[in-house]
Amino acid sequence: MGSCFSARIKAESPPHAGANSRNVSNHRRDLSSSRLSSPSLPQTPRSESEILESPNLKSFGFNDLKTATRNFRPDSVLGEGGFGCVFKGWIDEHTFKAARPGTGLVIAVKRLNQEGLQGHKEWLTEINYLGQLRHPNLVKLVGYCLEDEHRLLVYEFMRRGSLENHLFRRSSYFQPLSWNLRMKVALGAAKGLAYLHSPEAKVIYRDFKSSNILLDSNYKAKLSDFGLAKDGPMDGKSHVSTRVMGTYGYAAPEYIATGHLTTKSDVYSFGVVLLEMLTGRRVIDKTRPPGEHNLIEWAKPCLASKRRIFQVMDVRIEGQYSLGGALRATTLAVKCLAIEPKYRPNMDEVVKALVQLQDLDSGSVKNEVVRKHRNKTCSQDAPSRKAASYARPSPSPMVA
Ligand SMILES: Nc1ncnc2c1ncn2[C@@H]1O[C@H](COP(=O)(O)OP(=O)(O)OP(=O)(O)O)[C@@H](O)[C@H]1O
Ligand SMILES: [Mg+2]
Repeated sequence: MGSCFSARIKAESPPHAGANSRNVSNHRRDLSSSRLSSPSLPQTPRSESEILESPNLKSFGFNDLKTATRNFRPDSVLGEGGFGCVFKGWIDEHTFKAARPGTGLVIAVKRLNQEGLQGHKEWLTEINYLGQLRHPNLVKLVGYCLEDEHRLLVYEFMRRGSLENHLFRRSSYFQPLSWNLRMKVALGAAKGLAYLHSPEAKVIYRDFKSSNILLDSNYKAKLSDFGLAKDGPMDGKSHVSTRVMGTYGYAAPEYIATGHLTTKSDVYSFGVVLLEMLTGRRVIDKTRPPGEHNLIEWAKPCLASKRRIFQVMDVRIEGQYSLGGALRATTLAVKCLAIEPKYRPNMDEVVKALVQLQDLDSGSVKNEVVRKHRNKTCSQDAPSRKAASYARPSPSPMVA
């Protein structure tokens, strides 16, 4: 499943600038362009004292996690992100010591492989947010490891992996998600985001994307990766000013342009993911024909027209949804993607819309309606759809 063997070697070799770049094409990064001045990072001390007190978190020893993941074996790799590789492991649920594979509690261990302050900062932010927040739609952080230069995070294992894999990977394991499951996942992820934005949590997530939505065995969606999370605006301020960090394609245009971060930036990213779910296409996909690299630019003309929305819907869910359902879902995506943040709904409104959508009766007329409208795709590219949907995209900014 995983491809971390090379990355593992890399992690144990001296850092090599530019190495492994194929793996980070759509990972989060500093999105600030030359137009923006990036404030230099503050010097961060690197000790356990930076970690907020949390009764929920366990501090692990490196050797325990090494044994739990069978020495970080390549065939234990669940995936790889910009932070490092994620390994499957087993621990005893009472003692938290390494357990025999297949026994005890299954965990996912994320191992930081990049040197430097940014990696450490994100590792710490993840602990300090996820250690304090608890919600059924947020992934559970079991604990962490800080030992010498080692930085690891230990999560509950999410059996069905990321939404990204289900939407874009082709293998016998990752069957296309049905319309109903897509809507269930959208609702779960929206609830997670609504909780983060609520007065109780008051957090801006800043990294909402399909690879950060993890699915349990029942396809319950949980948000992971809080390395970029920020406290929401305080004292009547409308936004937080930050260095522009995020993932190309998902980050809101006004945030990229100004560095002003609001909860509406997350709503925009939610719209992007909803559109990925409806179309089965990545937001940025350079393997597509010219004019189709950017999903939003490609799909928007069709989303505005009731007659044309079926031209952009994923062919793999054809016949599973009603005209009314498809229209409601695409309309919601369009609202979230409004260029002006004030025209985007808030996440409570998004949750409400998705609950109503689930309640819609999916009658038998739907198949006819869908087939009648599906003569050609938005840009007559039907033959390229299948072949182009495998590769991860190279990023490109949303704004000119
Ligand atoms: N708790 C978990 N349970 C099961 N699989 C997981 C878990 N956490 C991560 N993964 C797998 O590991 C992959 C890599 O995750 P990671 O968060 O490191 O990177 P990413 O989200 O792809 O990119 P980025 O670094 O930009 O967030 C995920 O896409 C998922 O398939
Ligand atoms: Mg992630």
